[in-house]
Amino acid sequence: MIRYDEPSRTFSLNTPNTSYVMGITDSGYLCLYHYGRRVEHILPHPSWDELRTRDKLSYMDLAPFEYSAGGVGDYRPAALLVETLDGSQVAELTYVNHAISKGKPKLKDLPATFGSDTDAETLSITLEDKTAGVKVTLLYSVFEGIDAIIRSAQVENTGNGRFFICKVMSTSLNLVNNDYELLTLSGSWGREKNIESRPIGRGFQGVSSKRGISSAQEHPFIAVTTKGVTDTEGEVYGLNLLYSGNFRALAKLDQFDHVRAEIGIDPENFRFSVEPGESFQTPEAVTVYSSKGLGAMSRTFHDLYRQHLIRSPYTHKKRPVLINNWEATYFDFNTDKLLSIAKEAAKSGIEMLVMDDGWFGDRFDDNRALGDWKVNEEKLPGGLSYLVKEVNALGLKFGIWMEPEMVCPDSDLYRAHPDWAIKVPGREPGLARNQLVLDITREEVWQYCFESIKNVLSSANIEYLKWDMNRPLADVHSMALPADRQGEFFHRYVLSLYRMQEAVLKEFQDLLLENCSSGGGRYDAGMLYYSPQVWASDDTDAIERLKIQEGNMLIYPLSTMGAHVSDCPNHGNGRITPFETRGHVALFGTFGYELDITKISEEERAQIPGQIALYHKYNELIREGDYYRLASFSKNNEFDCWSVNAKDGSECLVAYVSVFARMNMKGRTVKLQGLDPDALYKVEGTDETYYGDVLMNVGYHFPEIRGDFQSRLVHFCRV
Ligand code: GLA
Repeated sequence: MIRYDEPSRTFSLNTPNTSYVMGITDSGYLCLYHYGRRVEHILPHPSWDELRTRDKLSYMDLAPFEYSAGGVGDYRPAALLVETLDGSQVAELTYVNHAISKGKPKLKDLPATFGSDTDAETLSITLEDKTAGVKVTLLYSVFEGIDAIIRSAQVENTGNGRFFICKVMSTSLNLVNNDYELLTLSGSWGREKNIESRPIGRGFQGVSSKRGISSAQEHPFIAVTTKGVTDTEGEVYGLNLLYSGNFRALAKLDQFDHVRAEIGIDPENFRFSVEPGESFQTPEAVTVYSSKGLGAMSRTFHDLYRQHLIRSPYTHKKRPVLINNWEATYFDFNTDKLLSIAKEAAKSGIEMLVMDDGWFGDRFDDNRALGDWKVNEEKLPGGLSYLVKEVNALGLKFGIWMEPEMVCPDSDLYRAHPDWAIKVPGREPGLARNQLVLDITREEVWQYCFESIKNVLSSANIEYLKWDMNRPLADVHSMALPADRQGEFFHRYVLSLYRMQEAVLKEFQDLLLENCSSGGGRYDAGMLYYSPQVWASDDTDAIERLKIQEGNMLIYPLSTMGAHVSDCPNHGNGRITPFETRGHVALFGTFGYELDITKISEEERAQIPGQIALYHKYNELIREGDYYRLASFSKNNEFDCWSVNAKDGSECLVAYVSVFARMNMKGRTVKLQGLDPDALYKVEGTDETYYGDVLMNVGYHFPEIRGDFQSRLVHFCRV
């Protein structure tokens, strides 16, 4: 997969359909010669290399440097900016050596893709500027059968005094073309990951987060695509960062109509001190190239993450069908209420009760008590052990909600340790949802949070944890860091969070962890290293979920997407949708319920066992299969359609949601994808059969459905 050709001094990283070719130029720079469709042969020596002797600055601003440091004439975005002892930010990185090895190294303290000696290879290339005392090791890994390149950089101080890293990208990518578009996943609370596209013009286009979390507003992902890219056609370069904090991802069109794209930690609010002999490791970034549109990119990300990122023992397992009491009761519950829900849930085939926010301290609303992780005995007499025993006796597993990183000013914890919250000395910190963030970069605070989780989880038979995080960081300052190292805080916060999740998982190896951050505010590839699923959005309305889930499915496997059936009128937007449609939409995520099962209508309750049967029947296909986007409600404003196909082409489950009924439309014909063209497929429950090529090239006809928000599931099986 990885090859070095000594005569031409080129590196080729070949995946099934792509090649990433770098070369060492005559002057010793590492440049990108090609990234795109696979090439088998050695590339010619690039013509721009001749410029160098006559006019260094023109050369520096033209050559496609793989990892450019600032200050020597490359005026495009620098991958690395290091401020050395003399205060300058100048470094010129040239090739020192390289090594190709089997396997995939772990990254210290950071999430990382994993692989074995038989399915992964890694290239490390060392570059150095001796004058500045900056050594950079670029890591590139590829996995057998997967069209992705995994990159990260390690920056080492080889000088005599400390330096500050002011900017350090995980990936910097040069592309030749002037007709690209930039695709992003942007949104807000309750409206996460809307797919947006814009032309890449001169200047900077991109997204970032300064919130301390990856955020609901922007996402650490961009795709540089050819104009008018579709799900099946066009070129795509998708960049995704395995990181859950501040990030920047952008693309810039330069004076020669070339694009430089980059993704990494946001340089704003970032300044990291590195002592001589120490080094800094960036998070990993994944780049996926597809010449067959967005769909092929999605499937590559899904395969990569399912096989080489999500470590949980649950990754390839059916998760228990849960019922969560948040939208059922909010803060107004007690043991009896929860047991009445559990009892009814058990009758319908639900397998786990999750007790959400409000079970601890005097948490009767969201104004107080975060940090006080002691059971509220007024609500739960006999504590967790009694409740959990009773729930287990009904045949259900038990899960719990915590928000470990937080503290409310009105809490025993804050009264005892006001200095544990993140705030700038002498300034009143701003509240969000009446809470502050704990400074988990401080060891004693970290220990308190970790011990709190440990105590709760070991106090009863708790098999699932929903780890929430409901406000962004602001007023940032840490008592653990001197003034000249406050710029390290945001990154150290993320590292402390990762360390805590790692420690919890080590202690509770069978725990099913679901991350959450006011819905999907931290639904990123970094968190997937720790939890196999993330709550996708606080918006549980089936129709709004179509857009949110389409955005998530663009890069993340369906098996990671927390999705529940909730009550109507929907608590978030008041929409009334059929119970069946709510079930169909949630089926393509982790699946569960978020409603008061004792209060919904008899007619709706009667549908639950049937929905759960669908879950058991189709979950393996949905979890492990290939996802195809067939039509997009966010584009056509009328209907949505997608499928999951078995990898061997033996079956395909199509979901069709007719969002708005229209008169005299005579239904809609949708072309399926990814089937075996010569195989005959039978539509389950009917006598209809179709050949794969007919379904793909002519289409399948969905008859007209009356009324809005209606859905159909169609299951095709090879006969
Ligand atoms: C966040 C979560 C919700 C719920 C509440 C509880 O908003 O996204 O699912 O857990 O917190 O306060």
